[in-house]
Amino acid sequence: MSDGLEGVVAADTVLSEVDGQNGRLIIRGYPVEDLSGHTRFEEVAGLLLDGFFEDLPSDLTADLGRARAEVFAEVSALDVGLLARQPIEIMRSLTARLADGDDLATALRLIAAPAVFTAAAVRAQAGQPPVAPDPDLGHAADILRMLRGHTAGLRESAALDAYLVTVCDHGLNASTFAARVVASTQAGLTSAVLAGISALKGPLHGGAPGPVIDMLNEIGTPENARAWIENALDHGERLMGFGHRIYKVRDPRADALKRAITLVGEGSNTLPGRLAFAQAVEQAVLTILRERKPNRPLDVNVEFYTALLLEALAIPPAAFTCVFAMGRVAGWIAHAREQLIGGRLIRPQSRYIGPMPRAAA
Ligand code: ACO
Repeated sequence: MSDGLEGVVAADTVLSEVDGQNGRLIIRGYPVEDLSGHTRFEEVAGLLLDGFFEDLPSDLTADLGRARAEVFAEVSALDVGLLARQPIEIMRSLTARLADGDDLATALRLIAAPAVFTAAAVRAQAGQPPVAPDPDLGHAADILRMLRGHTAGLRESAALDAYLVTVCDHGLNASTFAARVVASTQAGLTSAVLAGISALKGPLHGGAPGPVIDMLNEIGTPENARAWIENALDHGERLMGFGHRIYKVRDPRADALKRAITLVGEGSNTLPGRLAFAQAVEQAVLTILRERKPNRPLDVNVEFYTALLLEALAIPPAAFTCVFAMGRVAGWIAHAREQLIGGRLIRPQSRYIGPMPRAAA
C-alpha cells in the first residue's frame, strides 16, 4: 500500500501534466508560463472544457458574465448565521444552493459561483452591501470590482487574471481527486465542485496562503527570519508555502506569480520592499530546510507567492483560499466531465487491520 496514495496513478487525463522532477506544468499542451500573463482566464477555461461539452462556445466571456449575474440571486440567502463563518464556508454554502446537473449551463454557474459568492461574503463581513456583477466585464476585472465596489486598474485585473490561469489545473491534486471521485458516482457537477472546495480548504492544500501572511508578519524583519524559522521547526511546525508531494524542485507556478506581482507593483511604493523581504524569508527557509533535512527536496510552492500577490491586490487573507477556488473550479469541472464521460466508478479497497470476530463460545 502507498501511504497517501503517493506514486499511484489513478486516472488518465488530457488536462494537465505535473512533472515534479523538472518543475514543469503543462496545461492541455501549453507550459503554464506560456498561458499565465498571456491568455485570459475565460480562454483557458475554454481550453480546459474543450471536448467535454458539445455546445461549448468559442469564447466563454459573455456566457460566464451572464452566469455571474444569474448566480448573484443566491446572495440574498446570506444570513447572520452564515456571516459568522469563514469566507470559504459561506462561499461553499451558497454554491450548494445551485442545482446539480451535468450540462454547460451548470458548469458556467459553478465557475461563476466562487467569484460572486466570495465577493459578497467579504463585503458582508466588512458591513458593506453586495455589488452585483457586471456581465460585460472580464471575469478577473469583475471579481475585483465586486470585491471593492469600484473598477480596478488594468494592471491589477491582469495580475488577478494571471493568477486564475496559473492555478486553473494541476494534475490529480487532492481537491481534483475528490471532485473526480464524486463525479464518478454520477452525482452531478455541483456535487463534484463542492467536494473540490471542501478538499481545497485544508492548510495542507489550498488553505496555506493565509498562514503565509501570518508567518511573514510574525517574522517582521529579515534579521528575525532564522530565529523564527528555527523555533517553528523545533516545535514541529510546517512552514506554509514550502514542500510539495510532486515537485522535487521549484514549483514553476511560483515564478509565474512573481511576474504577476510585478504588474501590481509598478507604481507602488511599498510592494518592492515587501517582495524583497519575502524573498529574504524564502531564502532563509530554503537554507534552513536544507541544513535540517538534507535528504528531503523541499522548495517553495505556489502558495508562497499566491499570498504575496493576493495581499498586493488588497484581498483579505481570510478569503485567499476562495480566490484559489475561483481559478481551480475550471479544472475541477473539466476533470469531472472527463471522469464522467470516459471513466468508471472510483472505488478502491481498504485493508482491514481491526480485530476479527470471536468464535461464539
Ligand atoms: N515545512 C517543514 N517540513 C516539511 C514541510 C514544510 N512545509 N513540508 C514537508 N516537510 C517535511 C516533513 O516534516 C517530512 O519530514 P520527515 O520525514 O523528516 O518527518 C517530509 O518533509 C515529508 O513530508 P510529508 O508530509 O510526508 O510530505 P507530503 O508530500 O505528504 O506533504 C505538503 C506535502 C502537505 C504540501 C507538505 O509539504 C506541507 O505540509 N507543506 C506546508 C503546507 C503547504 O504549503 N501547503 C500547500 C501545498 S501546495 C497546494 O496544495 C496548492
